Amino acid sequence: MRLDLFTLFPQAFDWFVAQRHVRNAVAHGAEINRINYRDTTPLGAGQVDDAPYGGGAGMVLRVDVVDAALRAAYPERRPDRVVLLTPGGTQFDEGLAAELAAEPHVALLCGRYEGFDERIREHLATDAVSIGRYVLAGGELAAMVVADAMLRKLPGALGHAESALEESFSEALGGAPEYPHYTRPPTYLGWDVPDVLVSGDHERVREWRLEQSRRRGESGSA
Ligand code: ADE
Repeated sequence: MRLDLFTLFPQAFDWFVAQRHVRNAVAHGAEINRINYRDTTPLGAGQVDDAPYGGGAGMVLRVDVVDAALRAAYPERRPDRVVLLTPGGTQFDEGLAAELAAEPHVALLCGRYEGFDERIREHLATDAVSIGRYVLAGGELAAMVVADAMLRKLPGALGHAESALEESFSEALGGAPEYPHYTRPPTYLGWDVPDVLVSGDHERVREWRLEQSRRRGESGSA
């Protein structure tokens, strides 16, 4: 998997790329590139944005700037998925994370300012994705959320291959949230670990977990 992050703030991803699971994914063959729109802008003085037609507050990322960045990065073939991060996009979820993680090459386009020229969404992106119905100051945090959920699915990202199998929203749990976890001490301030988990009866533990997961799915709390 090759993941290209287009941004005006490549350094915003410094913390993200240093995370263990991200480094693991890279060590197992994933490639992560940060590409600054400013490096290839066709405009003078590093300009990347402009005032909105029709007036209004703020600045808008220009379509020619984003197209130039994509042309420079992909002289031959663009990735099958060019994902624009925007508050009004399709709601990101575990299913979309799995779909993107299965792609060989994905580009994430981060915006700043008031947003993107709409022609970027119409003509340059294949997907517009939102991480929630709120407005962030830029797409970088949203891109990190999307990249994190994707990369942890790649081989070798997590220490134990099985830890991603029975997690929230996985097929193994029928798409429901994960069951509750407990560890030592068995009792704390009178709060006890459920008996079944310390019973040593693996079949009962399995049934209890599936039941808890199902209940959480019904009540809508993960
Ligand atoms: N850019 C700004 N806010 C965003 C959001 N909620 N999701 C995706 N991209 C964004």
